[in-house]
Amino acid sequence: MGQSRISTHLALLLDSELVQSRREGKRTFYRLNPQLNDTSGEFVELAIRGAKELREHADDELNLKRIINRRREQAQIYFNQVAGRFDRVYGPGRSWQAFGHLLLRVLPPLVVADLGAGEGLLSELLARRCKKVIAVDNSEKIVAFGAAKAKKNNLKNLEFRLGDLQNPPIDPNSVDLAILSQALHHAEEPGKAIAAAHRLLKPGGQIMILDLSKHNFDRAHELYGDRWLGFAESDLHRWLEETGFKKIEINVVAREEQPPHFETVLAGAVK
Ligand SMILES: C[S@@+](CC[C@H](N)C(=O)[O-])C[C@H]1O[C@@H](n2cnc3c(N)ncnc32)[C@H](O)[C@@H]1O
Repeated sequence: MGQSRISTHLALLLDSELVQSRREGKRTFYRLNPQLNDTSGEFVELAIRGAKELREHADDELNLKRIINRRREQAQIYFNQVAGRFDRVYGPGRSWQAFGHLLLRVLPPLVVADLGAGEGLLSELLARRCKKVIAVDNSEKIVAFGAAKAKKNNLKNLEFRLGDLQNPPIDPNSVDLAILSQALHHAEEPGKAIAAAHRLLKPGGQIMILDLSKHNFDRAHELYGDRWLGFAESDLHRWLEETGFKKIEINVVAREEQPPHFETVLAGAVK
């Protein structure tokens, strides 16, 4: 039968509740109504028996099996094709932002200081889970913009403060986590910024630094306003140790695919 006649037949079957339908994108899938009453059940059985006597029946059965198998195999074929590079190919709905939200759910309700916070990309994410987030930045405009955005997003526990990350306007021993995300390389004296973060942490609190590994891309000064061209892991380690931090852990956690192949280093330690 041609498509239009099939549609007419299916509409009639649907009307009489002999079949049910389910839409998926542009397709509609039909199946027998599993809750047929006795009379309809007998009627359907009779129709199936009759269909089996048709010449085309064997071929139809075969084709049906083939189509269903192909549909089942489709996902398998795709994942087999991308195996080995799956983490690098596009996956609908898969993003670091989504992973970030997942990881946030397992965070306890911390008090966080985001030092050199910018407009609050990370602060906003954290504020959805943390007890309080204090975002410090020394750019008046950025602080005004970030504060307005936090208000618009109804994040009452996110507070923007104007200040320098070498002397943040936060009480000593008051926060559980101090974050410097791509901020330390803007500090005149990075060691001083780390010491300042140590002061405002409660005993047992943690510092987390995300920054660039030492690089030679000079144009970062003019392009991004960077003061330092990243840091050697040994420098970060020394500053953290000199300040009195314990359990220092430093790793390169990301490398950009495009030149100049910036690497991101994550340094964490405990007060
Ligand atoms: C590259 S952005 C990073 C923003 C944010 N932490 C992030 O990861 O998206 C650096 C930010 O640090 C701020 N900044 C630079 N020097 C600073 C300083 N001495 N004290 C406080 N903030 C500073 C800048 O205004 C800018 O918003």
